[in-house]
Amino acid sequence: MNAIEIRNLTKNFGQKQALAGLNMTVPQGAIYGFIGENGSGKSTTEKLICGLLVPSGGSIKLFGRDYKDPDVRAKIGVLIEQPGCFPNYSVWNNMMLQAANLDIPNAAEEVRKVLRVVHMDGSASNKYKNCSLGMKQRIGIAMALLGKPALLILDEPINGLDADGMRIMRDVLVDITKEYRCTVVISSHILGELEKIATHYGIVRGGKMIKEMTAEELEADCRTFVALQTKDMEMARALLERKYSRVTLENEYIRIYDDVKAEEVVAYLYHELGIAVTEVRTDKIGLEEYYIDLMNKGVC
Ligand SMILES: Nc1ncnc2c1ncn2[C@@H]1O[C@H](COP(=O)(O)OP(=O)(O)OP(=O)(O)O)[C@@H](O)[C@H]1O
Ligand SMILES: [Mg+2]
Repeated sequence: MNAIEIRNLTKNFGQKQALAGLNMTVPQGAIYGFIGENGSGKSTTEKLICGLLVPSGGSIKLFGRDYKDPDVRAKIGVLIEQPGCFPNYSVWNNMMLQAANLDIPNAAEEVRKVLRVVHMDGSASNKYKNCSLGMKQRIGIAMALLGKPALLILDEPINGLDADGMRIMRDVLVDITKEYRCTVVISSHILGELEKIATHYGIVRGGKMIKEMTAEELEADCRTFVALQTKDMEMARALLERKYSRVTLENEYIRIYDDVKAEEVVAYLYHELGIAVTEVRTDKIGLEEYYIDLMNKGVC
């Protein structure tokens, strides 16, 4: 069963059409990376799934049922902006308040558990106002976990985090899918980071889904290339362009996207042209470049 099935979803804000017939399928257990440029409709879609906005048209099914079904609503955890917390209260007290709001039985035990899942068990006595951005985001996730959600919707949870904060968040999200068998939708612009955890991707543009794929499909779709450096990059590039059809100069490396082995290119440059290669490797484009390619193709 799919955790989310959205068909032909539309949302207008007055004259502005934010969603123009969006489709989305998120399998249960997925970590779904939701990608798109600013204003493409990610947050609007997430708010509609959570019932924070009312759709103009289309359908949203969660776990096979209409999204308005109260049983289904109870299964959703959400972090769309920063959590509403009292700055002068400790993390622990803020969590206990939220547990009381949600009528959680065995509150202290549950709070202890979710704080451990988000790597905040050592910081429970910190005042909320003294927490870093990464900690605050993880407190928001801990609050969402108190309801034992089957679906967690996170809008840009790694924005603004430093490398360490991102690494912890990555571990937390993977643990959540394991411990809570939870499906996670996570929108982000930080594609290199998303690529480390996502099992599925959805790319949205102009309020429509232009591509959905699994991480395996992305991997298979990502072009391989030979990357190399020589002393005279411009000359080597010009000469390689005579033999190969897809040669570029990117990030200080010449890239050859033709179906060719690295050794062949090195031998060609050295034996036929007398150019020594100082570094060579075979690589694949990542999510970031795949995304940029897709956007440049003008798919919409
Ligand atoms: N409350 C609102 N009133 C009017 N227009 C809105 C409202 N919320 C969103 N929009 C518009 O709808 C479109 C989609 O916005 P949305 O916030 O969903 O994009 P996004 O993909 O989340 O962008 P970002 O990456 O900047 O967060 C944008 O053009 C935005 O200006
Ligand atoms: Mg947004």
